[in-house]
Amino acid sequence: METTGPIPFAFFVLALLSSHFLAVEVGGCSPSGWIRGQTPPPGQCNTGDQSECCKNGEEYPIFRCSPPVNSHTRAHLTLNSFEKGGDGGGPSECDNKYHSNDTPVVALSTGWFNHESRCLRNITIHGNGNTAVAMVVDECDSTQGCDDEHDYQPPCDNDIVDASRAVWEALGVPKDNWGWLDITWTDA
Ligand SMILES: *[C@@H]1O[C@H](CO)[C@@H](O)[C@H](O)[C@H]1NC(C)=O
Repeated sequence: METTGPIPFAFFVLALLSSHFLAVEVGGCSPSGWIRGQTPPPGQCNTGDQSECCKNGEEYPIFRCSPPVNSHTRAHLTLNSFEKGGDGGGPSECDNKYHSNDTPVVALSTGWFNHESRCLRNITIHGNGNTAVAMVVDECDSTQGCDDEHDYQPPCDNDIVDASRAVWEALGVPKDNWGWLDITWTDA
């Protein structure tokens, strides 16, 4: 008994292929690899601003892409120091300078940072029922981590707006809740 002739089978394969590519297209962004965490050497991994440290043997996804940007791009707001000696590491990538945490500045995940294309431009952030404007000064690296250069912190997620305390203040978030917030953002 023949149940699958060559033509239905061809359609089946086509449907399978197109749904696969559609899923990748709509999902927009899959991991481009994984890195294995190693225990930070003594004195490494500054845990200020609730920074996470890599765990030995844990696998962390890396991303070269971020979800597409639209007028209400969903993201997670995190807290970062852009000052010298803070948990942000070296000076900001856009201008090779440190920034006061009293100024509203952010680092974006690698895909959104998009090879410095948003450097020193403002984005508008909606969160906690409020709106804030912040300048992009740095990259939150989604492609590397768990090494000396990244203070043994995991790679950034691909949907992060990593913000100075001025941004959290502008959004009116109570200090006890600083660190993780669902937001949307768009180019200002
Ligand atoms: C970004 O916003 C700040 C504060 O509102 C403003 O002073 C600055 O001119 C803006 N920068 C750009 C490039 O639009």
